[in-house]
Amino acid sequence: MIRFANAVDHTALSDVYQKIADAVLAPAVFNWNTEKALQELKVAKTLVYANLGIIVSFISFRESAEALEITALGTIPICRKQGYLEALLLQLTDIAAQHDKPLWLEVHELNSAARQLYQKWGFELVQNRKNYYPDGASTLVMTRSNV
Ligand SMILES: CC(C)(COP(=O)(O)OP(=O)(O)OC[C@H]1O[C@@H](n2cnc3c(N)ncnc32)[C@H](O)[C@@H]1OP(=O)(O)O)[C@@H](O)C(=O)NCCC(=O)NCCS
Repeated sequence: MIRFANAVDHTALSDVYQKIADAVLAPAVFNWNTEKALQELKVAKTLVYANLGIIVSFISFRESAEALEITALGTIPICRKQGYLEALLLQLTDIAAQHDKPLWLEVHELNSAARQLYQKWGFELVQNRKNYYPDGASTLVMTRSNV
């Protein structure tokens, strides 16, 4: 079931963030610590996929006058490659279409799983910001229009 997160979800989302952060190969790939992530939750909107009441996947985004910007997303490691993130993206693309705004995001250049996901969903590279991360890697700015 997909729904928007609310204040009651903070503890569960904290656990989800931590599980994802613990599993990444390089910290810069998923660059929110749990405290920062929960602060983000207060200002961003977050769609969650809850499986039998347990949150397994999420997308946080902010809305500006021009776009919906994805600020963080992830699926807990044991639930990956089962379509949870794609289900959330489908919902988010519907919201973007309703608001008539493109989606924007940034991704670490070495995050091949996320890059393949974005490519599959029609995100296009618009900028490569070199030496963006503390590890010297680039961030790739990508966008997906509604047409
Ligand atoms: C990237 C991530 C969010 C994908 O979540 P997921 O729930 O496993 O993704 P889904 O099952 O919904 O989507 C599957 C699609 O994503 C891509 N994908 C997901 N994992 C992949 C992998 N390990 N290798 C290559 N492509 C992958 C593929 O396009 C795949 O489609 P396919 O099965 O037809 O090949 C997940 O690996 C994750 O949480 N990573 C750590 C956090 C992160 O990197 N967040 C992004 C920061 S910008």
